Amino acid sequence: MHKICLIPGDGIGLEVIPAARRVLEATGVALDFVTADAGWSTFGRLGTSVPDATLNAVRAADATLAGAFTSPSAKIAGFTGAIRHMRRTLDLYANLRPAKTRPVAGCFAGVDIMMVRENTEGLYVEVERRYGDIAIADVKISRSASERIARVAAQQARGRRGLVHVVHKANVLPITSGLFLDTAVDVIRREYPDVEVRDIIVDACAMKLVREPGSFDVLVTTNLFGDILSDLMAGLVGGLGLAPSANLGDHQAVFEPVHGSAPDIAGRGVANPVATIVTSCLMLDHLGEHETAARLQAAVDRVLERGPHTRDIGGTAGTEEMADAVIAAYGEG
Ligand code: NAI
Ligand code: MG
Repeated sequence: MHKICLIPGDGIGLEVIPAARRVLEATGVALDFVTADAGWSTFGRLGTSVPDATLNAVRAADATLAGAFTSPSAKIAGFTGAIRHMRRTLDLYANLRPAKTRPVAGCFAGVDIMMVRENTEGLYVEVERRYGDIAIADVKISRSASERIARVAAQQARGRRGLVHVVHKANVLPITSGLFLDTAVDVIRREYPDVEVRDIIVDACAMKLVREPGSFDVLVTTNLFGDILSDLMAGLVGGLGLAPSANLGDHQAVFEPVHGSAPDIAGRGVANPVATIVTSCLMLDHLGEHETAARLQAAVDRVLERGPHTRDIGGTAGTEEMADAVIAAYGEG
C-alpha cells in the first residue's frame, strides 16, 4: 500500500486532481489517499500558502501529487508561492521535466529530452529590493547545490542516451552562472566518466531546442532558465496540457504538472487532465510500480492518437470525458 498525499491547490488543480485520482484508482494499484490544502485560497483563509499540517502530510506520504497553485504577480506581504514554499522547506532540489514526442497534432517529431532544473536557488531566492525607480534582485548559486543537481542529471543520462548539456549564461555572468557551469561540468567529468558533458549558452539552447531538439538528451540548469526552457519544451510536444514534472529531494517527492492554475479556463471543466495523469506515471515509477506506469502511459498515448481530445489539443472534450477515455484505454490492457 502506497500512501499518497493529494494537494489540489487552486484553479484547474481542483479539476485535474480529482480526474487523476479516478484514473489512479482504476489502475488497481493499492493506494491510500489523504488530501491536503495549499495555495492562494489557503493563504486567504490561513495566512500561509502551505500550512504545517500539509508539510507534515507530505512528509508522511510516500509521494505527493499536486495540482496547481496561483501566485499573484504583485507583492503580497507574507506570501510565498505554495510550490516554491514546498520546494524550499522540504529541500526538493531537483525538478525533473521530461518532454517527449506524443501522437498528437502539432507535436514536433524526435523530441526526447529530460530537463533537470535546480529548484532551490538561482534568481528564485526571492530577494528583491526597490530604490525608488530602480529594483534589484539577488541571484544565489552555491557549489553544493550545483554539485547535487549535476549528479541528478548525470544519473538521468545514464538511464538514457548518456549526454548532459549544462545550460548557462557564464559569458555575461561569469561569477554566478560561471560557478554553476564549472561545478556541474567538473562533477560530471570526475564522477561520471561514462557520461558525455557539453555546455551551451541559454539563448543558443532555446534556438537549438526548436531547430534541432533531437540533439539533446539531458539538460541541467539553474532555476529561472529551467523554468522558461521547460515551458518551451512543453510547447514542442503538445503544450502545457500534456507536460509532467517531479520535484525530488532526498526524503520527499512532490509530483505536479508543469502548468499553473489557468484562471482563464478554471471552473469550466475543460482543463486537460493528461498533464496530471502522466505526472501520475512519473509518480508510479518513483513508487516502483513500473508496469502500471508504462501501461498507463500507453493508454494515454492511445487516447491522444484516436481521441477524444480536450480543447488545448484541438478537440471539444471536457476534463472528465478525457479521464474516462484514459480509464477505458487502460482497461484494454
Ligand atoms: P498557466 O500554466 O496556468 O496557463 C497558461 C496557458 O495554458 C493558459 O492559457 C491556460 O489556459 C493553458 N493551460 C494550462 N494548463 C492547461 C491544461 N491542463 N489544459 C488546458 N489548457 C491549459 O500559466 P499562467 O496563466 O502564466 O499562470 C496562471 C497562474 O498559475 C499564476 O498565478 C501563476 O503564478 C501560476 N503558476 C503556477 C505554477 C505551479 O503551480 N507550479 C506553474 C505556472 C504558473
Ligand atoms: Mg513555470
